[in-house]
Amino acid sequence: MVTPTPRVGPATLNERQLRATATTLGGAGWAPWAPAKGLRCINCGALQDLDTVIYRCPECGDLLDVVYPRPTLTVEQLRRRWRRRRGSLRPIDRSGVWRYRELLPFWRRLSELVTYPEGDTPLLDAPRSAAYAGVGRLRFKHLGFSPTGSFKDYGMATGVTQARRLGMRAVACASTGNTSASLAAYASRAGLLAIVLVPEGQISFGKLSQALDFGALTLQLRGDFDDAQSLLMEIAPQLGIYILNSVNPFRLEGQKSVILELLEQCDWQAPDRIVVPGGNLGNSSSYGKALRELDDLGLLDKRPHITIVQAEGAAPLYRYFHDHPDRMVSVHPRTLATAIKIGSPVSWKKARRAVDWSDGWCTEVDEQAIADAKAVIGSDGIGCEPASATTLAGIRRLIHEGTDVPVQPDEDVVAILTGNQLKDPEYTVRYHNGDLWEEFTTQTHVVSHGRQLQCSFANPPLVVDATADALRRAIEPRLRELR
Ligand SMILES: Cc1ncc(COP(=O)(O)O)c(C=O)c1O
Ligand SMILES: [Zn+2]
Repeated sequence: MVTPTPRVGPATLNERQLRATATTLGGAGWAPWAPAKGLRCINCGALQDLDTVIYRCPECGDLLDVVYPRPTLTVEQLRRRWRRRRGSLRPIDRSGVWRYRELLPFWRRLSELVTYPEGDTPLLDAPRSAAYAGVGRLRFKHLGFSPTGSFKDYGMATGVTQARRLGMRAVACASTGNTSASLAAYASRAGLLAIVLVPEGQISFGKLSQALDFGALTLQLRGDFDDAQSLLMEIAPQLGIYILNSVNPFRLEGQKSVILELLEQCDWQAPDRIVVPGGNLGNSSSYGKALRELDDLGLLDKRPHITIVQAEGAAPLYRYFHDHPDRMVSVHPRTLATAIKIGSPVSWKKARRAVDWSDGWCTEVDEQAIADAKAVIGSDGIGCEPASATTLAGIRRLIHEGTDVPVQPDEDVVAILTGNQLKDPEYTVRYHNGDLWEEFTTQTHVVSHGRQLQCSFANPPLVVDATADALRRAIEPRLRELR
């Protein structure tokens, strides 16, 4: 059993700090800074100590933001520092996350920072995709060029850093594949045990193979992502495991850097619109937080509209905006874009905040539109996974159909490609062979041929029932080995 060193539960800041925080939240609801560093509830404003192992507000149960006092450096000083670090040889300066460390100052010493390094992903022109969507200028910020092939690496740099700062020895996530791959890599490099819960038979082989190779305890749950997420929330505190799903606000701090990097690549001329796929809605939430902070610092020349695109079969946020803005209703998710096959997105309130603040919108696209958009992105010489292709399909829908909130054809649009093409090659091959179906099961066994090889370093996945007891029985032996 792991015995974590940090305090668990709410820590008290003094009354004055708490009151000050509540006032800065105000009626408008979203102050970017706080009088002291801490974890601030997005609903009631209660501020908790930064180094407390909590994921939700102990007062009201809502999500938490990592907050800091307003940085004192000027716009010019910040820009100059960030630019200078690009030429440095130090991994933390070259990291597309830690290069911007003035805006994520939750750490105390540089030696605490975990980096691969990550970031430095390209911004690519895509004329064929632009013509297909009907927009004058479209560029893709391709986060699939990250070390493990998805945007999750931006958030794992900060999440695993915080895990280590807290003295945790085991970290865990529920995942549709990419989070597990990223967590497994970063945990391994930081000397921590990674435990990943993935829905059995519902994640691509590319992603499963990464978690296995990186040595994660890989639990294939006989349930879906949402089961995995809620079971993990139940058992992790009992087992002393640190959760690194996007409910953990330290993950979102790292993902803010995508926006910083993008704006630097645009020489601080913000695009009109940033289009992003929506699953658990952590990514869109972090973009909102980044833009809110940059706006306040004077680093934004305009507010780009954050536009979230969901797959039609897994579109609870779209339904919320479109059909019933009074309540969020979970759905039973169905889509071949397995990365965003999520029916009960944990960060929906933060995503709504980002959309509202940026005057953005959320739309949905069907399976056919996603598949075609992916092939069109491919025709620009750019590969991506199906979830990422929702962006192009979404822009096209908003322009052509004029549904929801229309996009203007003369807008300068940046779409975020969240994952690498090679994560899910089966989908691509099936599409190009004319053999893609709205539902198919990935075979997990191959027919045996020839001489069988020894797999001396094998790290096989375990199939477990979707119950807390079964999970505990699977995890506890590995935790005992950590002693
Ligand atoms: C490739 C890809 N795109 C999009 C998403 C959705 O991101 P979020 O859950 O932050 O909305 C995921 C999440 O796993 C993903 O792996
Ligand atoms: Zn609260």
